[in-house]
Amino acid sequence: MAVEIAPLPVPPTADASMLKDFGREVKGVHPGHLSPEQFKEIHDLLYTYGALLFRNVDLSPEQQYALTKAFDPTSESYGHGNKKTEGEKKSILHPDLKTIPRVPQVQLIGNGTVYDHEGLAEAKLKHPSHTTFHKTRISPEDEEKGYTRFYRWHIDAALYDLSPPKVTTLYGVTVPQGQRQRVRYDDGTGDELEVPLGTTAFVDGRTMFNILPPELKSVAVRTKVRYAPHPYVWMAPAHALSTGLGIVSEGLEMPYDELPPWEESKIKVLPMLWKNPVTGELHFQVHPCGVSELFIDALPEGAKREGALFPDGAHLTDLKEVRDLLYKMQRPAIAPHLVYPHDWQEKDLVLFHNRGVLHSVVGAFKPDQVRAFHQCNLAASDDPKGPSEEDVKKWA
Ligand SMILES: [Fe+2]
Repeated sequence: MAVEIAPLPVPPTADASMLKDFGREVKGVHPGHLSPEQFKEIHDLLYTYGALLFRNVDLSPEQQYALTKAFDPTSESYGHGNKKTEGEKKSILHPDLKTIPRVPQVQLIGNGTVYDHEGLAEAKLKHPSHTTFHKTRISPEDEEKGYTRFYRWHIDAALYDLSPPKVTTLYGVTVPQGQRQRVRYDDGTGDELEVPLGTTAFVDGRTMFNILPPELKSVAVRTKVRYAPHPYVWMAPAHALSTGLGIVSEGLEMPYDELPPWEESKIKVLPMLWKNPVTGELHFQVHPCGVSELFIDALPEGAKREGALFPDGAHLTDLKEVRDLLYKMQRPAIAPHLVYPHDWQEKDLVLFHNRGVLHSVVGAFKPDQVRAFHQCNLAASDDPKGPSEEDVKKWA
């Protein structure tokens, strides 16, 4: 059968015109049995639309791994290095990940206790909660009323030593039904977003760039981002902003000399904008929680200096300054009308372009609401490419 596509259902909270190029449902083919020609189509569709949904598919962990790997055939290990590279227990990711024994690149994530699952006799899963990560929290009374938060906007990536995975696949095995929840941004804007229980929220990195004013586009196209060594260990003692879009600057990060051993050569310095290998578009791809410094190039020769920010370039090392600038650039794109909150059904498979979108876990489950998902992404065989010389000329 031929590959057919249909738009994703746009929630009433979204601006349909802004989300028209984001996401497609794929029909007519099984993601576990793609011919090379069909895979090529799926590959290009993913990079074009940022996320693909297959509904009602039976998919083994082996098939999920094979599909994920097909996007980057020489990649091997899980995106976070099969848990070996982050000082393990100290990492804030530690409690969220359980490995499928047969296919260690596929992780079991979710909530509640799962029995006899793909070789795991018993797995206790815990949906990440903003209450243990954000500086402030929704009160228990308001949680009871269904208020919640974005947990953490991010890219799936170790951001140390390993290259950010190209694609993440998420497969819903057990999806509990329950009351919809209301995300509160709690940042003084009054923004709120109604979402399905346990949604995964996505925003498009292209939009994040496209909606910036010219002076910030110019900064974005000239900037490289340096991440902290072992960022998830580094950030573990710190607390996040109420929007889940970065860390509050209060000096709580783990000092570099107390981190697990690290090497300068393994630190990640990545462009702020990542170039889409199929469309050539620029995606604003920064994991705000892990950032430590920004390197901003000077304006290229011939660029207009009037109104330009950092015309002579800059190296920003003050964490608060770094984070404030990033927040100013990223916050507009997580506005309620730009978010696609996926409404999970059992046997949904979602593939997303991990180098082109940001996503967040959302919401809170009760302990007896069992949710089981299979997640796979693979540390990439290369680092993402930044803007070309022409891009810099065009936007700087
Ligand atoms: Fe993720």
